[in-house]
Amino acid sequence: MNPLIENYVDTLHRTHMDNARSCYQAVYGPNSANTISPITNLIFELFLFNSLYSVDWDSTFKEDSLTFFDTGRDGPSEPKKQREFIKACKHRIDSSTQFVLADAFSPLAGHLTSDRDWMRVQPDDRITTELGEKFFRDIVWIANTAQERSLFADKVTFKAIDSCTYFVYLVRNNIFHGQKRLGEIYDRDHLKRLSIYDLFIRCVNSMFFKLMGKPDFGSVYAQYPIRLCHSEQSSFEIPVDKVAHLAFSKRALKPLDSYLHWLLSRECLLTSHFDIPRGIMFYPSAGNDLLFPLIVGLPYCDEFHFFDQSLQYVAQRVIQTLRILGVRPQDVDATRSGSKVCLEFELFGFRRRIWLRREDNLSFLNEQTPIRFYFHRGDSNGEGGSDQNWDGSLLQELVARADERGLLVVTDGQPGGLTSACRNRLREVLLPAVHLPNIFYVGTLHKNEADLE
Ligand SMILES: C[S@@+](CC[C@H](N)C(=O)[O-])C[C@H]1O[C@@H](n2cnc3c(N)ncnc32)[C@H](O)[C@@H]1O
Repeated sequence: MNPLIENYVDTLHRTHMDNARSCYQAVYGPNSANTISPITNLIFELFLFNSLYSVDWDSTFKEDSLTFFDTGRDGPSEPKKQREFIKACKHRIDSSTQFVLADAFSPLAGHLTSDRDWMRVQPDDRITTELGEKFFRDIVWIANTAQERSLFADKVTFKAIDSCTYFVYLVRNNIFHGQKRLGEIYDRDHLKRLSIYDLFIRCVNSMFFKLMGKPDFGSVYAQYPIRLCHSEQSSFEIPVDKVAHLAFSKRALKPLDSYLHWLLSRECLLTSHFDIPRGIMFYPSAGNDLLFPLIVGLPYCDEFHFFDQSLQYVAQRVIQTLRILGVRPQDVDATRSGSKVCLEFELFGFRRRIWLRREDNLSFLNEQTPIRFYFHRGDSNGEGGSDQNWDGSLLQELVARADERGLLVVTDGQPGGLTSACRNRLREVLLPAVHLPNIFYVGTLHKNEADLE
């Protein structure tokens, strides 16, 4: 391929990846900042989209020469160029790339909650209620079909993509031509709709980059709201902008954690509803990876033991992160004793304790405490890893300490892998292949099943 084309695609791809992994903030002073995602991500993604659809890709590929559409009065309109861009993508899909659409668009599915009230758009001069309804109907169809891996390059698919693209173009005009006041943008439901517009355009751009042979693509970094339910009446949600802030600014979550949480709930592998949480979670070699295990463990556990021999845990940092779970600072009591830090807090009427333990993981085995939940990931037998066989022989010891409810397990099986007996009893959960590790093993192991060969 002509190096000019390659260079153009590479530059835009890099920006697309950076934008997907960014959460933007406006800083007003030393202690005052506001998240301005996803609106800023959407605006950047629209600029990228504009740079992509300004090129006549069918001619560019045919002539092997970067060819832009005429921008003069006689040139095609913006919507026409957008349709031509999408058509050029369609022309590049063949049997070897037939799952590109499913890969690029399936992240939309994580946003489809059973409550759909937030999908109702506010009508204005450009956008009617009916157009908004059609847009979200199309999005739901694209998302579900992609999730089932049956979004193929046919007429129906491309009609839906064209129509959604045109709708986002109208939204873009509202943003750029000032129909909306900033105050309206920070309405919670509008924020959710903006996340969809942002993600949809990111999916379209991702489709193109995947078709250009790029293994990594931006839609995979979509963040989802994280929801926990205490009862029918009382639930707690970390909204998507806060999740993005936790993942990309604070690095308190890994980039695919909210997707993994959604997958685990969707597959009913872990519950987000809790009744009376009683039990202990153990996470060896935890590093700074505290928030996700805490979130998945909240419905089951009231004690969390995070082991790591070398990290100096900063309790203050953990306290700040806990605030995002709705735990008010006065509820947190931090007491220190030697290598352990214990944080106490109350959530939904239950007292919880987090133990941050700067010890060798193996010291947990000397304690005769029962255990309810084993969480483990990111460990290795390389430098910095424990080189301990937690998912093999040591898992047997943990299962032996579970009560009649069994031991809940979420692990990536590293290092060393699980024994086949355990692997057969746990479900495999797959993350998109661009991420390592991309498999998690999830489920419950009971004492009588712990005879690992
Ligand atoms: C690669 S990091 C993974 C951290 C975390 N699990 C994650 O996914 O982000 C491995 C961690 O294991 C810790 N570690 C290594 N050997 C250990 C041991 N014997 N006992 C406790 N921690 C250990 C290291 O200090 C390091 O923080």
